[in-house]
Amino acid sequence: MHYSLIKKVLFQFNAERIHELTLKGLQRITGTPLAFLLRQSVPTKVVNCMGLLFKNPLGLAAGLDKNGEYINILASMGFGFIEIGTVTPRAQLGNDKPRLFRINTAEGIINRMGFNNKGVDNLINNVKKANFSGILGINIGKNKDTPIEQSKNDYLICMDKIYLYADYIVINISSPNTPKLRLLQYGNALNDLLIVIKNKQIELHQKYSKYVPIAIKIAPDLTEEELTQIANALIKYKIDGVIATNTTLDYSLIQGLPYCQENGGLSGRPLQLSSTTIIRRLSQKLQGQLPIIGVGGIDSLIAAREKIAAGATLIQIYSGLIFHGPKLIKRIITNI
Ligand SMILES: Cc1cc2nc3c(=O)[nH]c(=O)nc-3n(C[C@H](O)[C@H](O)[C@H](O)COP(=O)(O)O)c2cc1C
Repeated sequence: MHYSLIKKVLFQFNAERIHELTLKGLQRITGTPLAFLLRQSVPTKVVNCMGLLFKNPLGLAAGLDKNGEYINILASMGFGFIEIGTVTPRAQLGNDKPRLFRINTAEGIINRMGFNNKGVDNLINNVKKANFSGILGINIGKNKDTPIEQSKNDYLICMDKIYLYADYIVINISSPNTPKLRLLQYGNALNDLLIVIKNKQIELHQKYSKYVPIAIKIAPDLTEEELTQIANALIKYKIDGVIATNTTLDYSLIQGLPYCQENGGLSGRPLQLSSTTIIRRLSQKLQGQLPIIGVGGIDSLIAAREKIAAGATLIQIYSGLIFHGPKLIKRIITNI
């Protein structure tokens, strides 16, 4: 069935409820003959990034499968890699509902989920059960009730636990929905965090004789000077990659539209230009010393090509999948 028809039905319902129901429905058909309806064959277009071989450059962005419950069914849609999380050491409920709003006319989404997740141990069990052979990124964060000064511990706890199960690890310091989290992107807080993360990676590399690359996920709402500082720190502490960007606090492109008063982070088409601009600037500063994974408002082949032209080696989507369905994955991978 054409996605625009399915969308007409799905978009009648509450955004978060329908998100859950859709994923549960997908889960239910996994392993049944109906699964072929979702499976898409896409051409192989291998990309080498962070020392890993990706079968194509388009991945699923974090936040859609926070607990790693739907890895195989999502991968069957053709993604070159899947990023699960953000997961925190302990389970937490996240913010009160409603906390997810679609701005249909702008093809944007506002969310203030607040890292609702079932905790890192549950995620690891799901990863083991999935027995997934593709590239899996695990995105980690801090619990809301962990004081910001102690947030390092939360990242280290998660790193210890997930190290053997992740192909790459993402340190999320850019969600706008966990109080003070974004402060970790600046100055000494960033340096302090990157030092302990790097040391932990070295320790775990030795312990398990397995090197797992680490990427830092940043916000689009950064000044030129802040971006320069981040780029310098990523190079200095030998971080393996950077994911740009998370959702934005800049609502200027959705003024006057339904839900534009809702607090949270904005994704989808209204984020497209600003995230591409961050990627371009970051790429100029990094000069190829570490790769960029570009994400933010990719809703077409052209938008995907723009991210790569701006300097991204890999790309990811989330909102585009909601508005355009799985065919977007195939269209991008086939033509990129
Ligand atoms: C509902 C929702 C939940 C999200 N949760 C997370 C998350 O837990 N961790 C994270 O790093 N990014 C999260 N994101 C951000 C996405 O991974 C992505 O960076 C952002 O949405 C921009 O991409 P897009 O425009 O293709 O959606 C979330 C986005 C949405 C819409």
